[in-house]
Amino acid sequence: MNSQKAAGTLLDISHIDMVFDTPKGPFTALKGVDLKISKGEFVSLIGHSGCGKSTVLNIVAGLYQATTGGVVLNGKEVREPGPERAVVFQNHSLLPWLTAYQNVELAVKQVFGRSKSKSETKEWIEHNLELVHMEHAMHKRPDEISGGMKQRVGIARALSMQPEILLMDEPFGALDALTRAHMQ
Ligand SMILES: Nc1ncnc2c1ncn2[C@@H]1O[C@H](COP(=O)(O)OP(=O)(O)O)[C@@H](O)[C@H]1O
Ligand SMILES: [Mg+2]
Repeated sequence: MNSQKAAGTLLDISHIDMVFDTPKGPFTALKGVDLKISKGEFVSLIGHSGCGKSTVLNIVAGLYQATTGGVVLNGKEVREPGPERAVVFQNHSLLPWLTAYQNVELAVKQVFGRSKSKSETKEWIEHNLELVHMEHAMHKRPDEISGGMKQRVGIARALSMQPEILLMDEPFGALDALTRAHMQ
């Protein structure tokens, strides 16, 4: 494995197989997936529906455990979800009873805890919401904003955690064509 670890590899997905247990028996969704990603690289996985893109992403996110093979991020094996790997899903995963601001706040407090002062925390949350042009609606709850706005809050929340890697699973897939083009 060391010999394969090219200089600058941030994420190393090696020899992954994923077999799901289904009522009809084992189903092999992934076989022999290898991928190395360097720091600063932007990689898109493209393939027909059902080819295994989300499965790869969920393994990297730590939501699924590969049947064989593994994922190493920055020299550390991935075993569970962690704040250094932020995920934006196709359908927003905001907490419905919290405002956009509070949704981002929850993530920021989780990651930075007491290392940011109250005013630094507020500034950082607002900065990230501004990045996705959500400053005007940051005190609205998810049911008061559009689908595109919800996805933007999800992106702000992911960025606010300063993750080492940002995982996005068709983040604009559930939006109408116009909004999607705009967001892309
Ligand atoms: N939890 C699961 N249990 C059984 N089969 C699954 C599960 N998740 C995904 N699959 C199957 O694995 C294959 C890959 O799925 P997925 O990774 O979601 O594809 P994609 O994201 O490329 O559309 C599909 O055939 C899907 O039905
Ligand atoms: Mg998918």
